[in-house]
Amino acid sequence: MLTDKRILLIIAGGIAAYKALDLIRRLRERGAFVRAVMTRNATEFVTPLAVGALASERAYTDLFSLDDESDIGHIRLARDADLVVVAPATANLVAKMAHGIADDLASTVLLATDLPILIAPAMNVRMWLHPATQANMALLRDRGVAVVDPETGAMAENETGPGRLAEPPNIVASVEALLSGANRPLAGRRALVTSGPTHEPIDPVRYIANRSSGKQGHAIAAALARLGAETVLVSGPTQEPPPNGVRLIPVETAREMLAACEAALPADIAVCAAAVADWRAGEEAGQKLKKTGGAPPSLALTENPDILATLSAPGSARPALVVGFAAETESVIDHAVAKRARKGCDWIVANDVSAAAGTFGGDSNSVHLITEAGAESWPALSKKDVGERLAARIADHFQATT
Ligand code: C5P
Repeated sequence: MLTDKRILLIIAGGIAAYKALDLIRRLRERGAFVRAVMTRNATEFVTPLAVGALASERAYTDLFSLDDESDIGHIRLARDADLVVVAPATANLVAKMAHGIADDLASTVLLATDLPILIAPAMNVRMWLHPATQANMALLRDRGVAVVDPETGAMAENETGPGRLAEPPNIVASVEALLSGANRPLAGRRALVTSGPTHEPIDPVRYIANRSSGKQGHAIAAALARLGAETVLVSGPTQEPPPNGVRLIPVETAREMLAACEAALPADIAVCAAAVADWRAGEEAGQKLKKTGGAPPSLALTENPDILATLSAPGSARPALVVGFAAETESVIDHAVAKRARKGCDWIVANDVSAAAGTFGGDSNSVHLITEAGAESWPALSKKDVGERLAARIADHFQATT
């Protein structure tokens, strides 16, 4: 059942749009509140009147409609739901989602939302199999967008193959699976994840930084959110897109990261994956440092706060499970075991960041998980899979201890 669940249904313009009417009816029969946004092309296939009559409210179609904006506004549309469902998702809307294009109400809402998203693609078989669409789908899946794959069968243009919209009962089943506790063992838990590098200013134009890409921390946050945890991601500057279903707090310096983490407490879980700069410039110059012709200026460094050690310190706000990372270039396990004791955290994920391992900026990671029970070596996995596996271990830990 979907009682009290709020669904924002985005209907894109393909012949399968007519099935959205059946989908709305089925979602409402299960008790969901359904609000619909239609692209302009969708209105060529079904009318906003029909969609509005079946949905819980009238349909929204126009980014620049004074009525739509004063009734709800596109930012509230993007926030006020438990799940965003895109059905049918056309090749065009999939491409816009993948590349962050926001040129109408539907695509703007999709770019503005941080809610979990489920898409049900439907398009001509050649469009579906086109490398561009497949690459866009891979990008979306990587970002944590859930997909109800299209079905294979006869299509509108007398062609056969994959591309037909999944049948509405199958879409409803995916909605229910996403919104129920099933596969969401961390539902009701709060998680805090740090990610990326920090930037420590020297003067208004220069800073100290490191090579962290944020890929691993972002993947962990995405995986924890997928398992149901309410997840806050405190991240230094990265190129990584924020994962869906995660609240991102962007920061620059270690001190800002610590303040954001402390403000995000209480949390049940803290995973410190950020590569926090150990030192910052002792004094940040107010103006750009100039070459004077004399000796080069010297840079005095001051130690940054240790966020992992601070979060691990005993106290009422200490998360029940604190996980740190150890980036080592030699004696990886020994150093990580010592680091676990020194920082006071519960687990350490140790990885080899020697140049030969290619971890920094790369897509894969070979890690060892150090717990109170000892060290466990995982096979080489993608950073996404390390995130999934760590989140699953965290879920097991909470199931075993509560
Ligand atoms: O001491 P080291 O930097 O090797 O420790 C790595 C672990 O400590 C990582 O989990 C990192 O996120 C965390 N850390 C931190 N704040 C610092 C330095 C490291 O949270 N200032």
